[in-house]
Amino acid sequence: MSIDPLRYICEDPLERKWAWISLILAFVMGGVLGFYALASNLHPPSNVETIDSSRLHLSEEFAEDNLGVKSNPDGSLTITMVAARYGFYPPRIEVPVDTPVTLRMASADVLHGVHVPGTNMTTMVVPGYISEVNTMFTRTGEFSLLCNEFCGLGHDHMWSRLVVVENSAGGQ
Ligand code: CUA
Repeated sequence: MSIDPLRYICEDPLERKWAWISLILAFVMGGVLGFYALASNLHPPSNVETIDSSRLHLSEEFAEDNLGVKSNPDGSLTITMVAARYGFYPPRIEVPVDTPVTLRMASADVLHGVHVPGTNMTTMVVPGYISEVNTMFTRTGEFSLLCNEFCGLGHDHMWSRLVVVENSAGGQ
């Protein structure tokens, strides 16, 4: 320990030992996070787009009648949803497998998160911002779309259903 760089800030060898353990733990945890972020292709959303959360229902995109799944000219889909205590609206969405989808979600009240276990779909839904995630569902089945940010007493019951169906476009 004669070349211990921590000796400049701490004289007690026992204290330095604990400092090293904490530092190593921090690096190991950082490494594990980095590994899974790369291995599961998780990435922070980079979309910065603001919206007035209190007037969502009056906005064109997030008005009740405009929520849901829409197809784009290039064959991809856009899912528009609102997160509000305590649910995601619409409560059930259906998308074809192996199709590029863009999820656009806004919160009508507080901070929520959206996560679909078993996929790389996850993002925070921050009031005042539009969250956007580009992904593709590669397995058919019924998935739960869960809230993963504590948003109040009903947080545990905040979820909706995502159904990934066979691609009816014949592989297009
Ligand atoms: Cu919404 Cu927790």
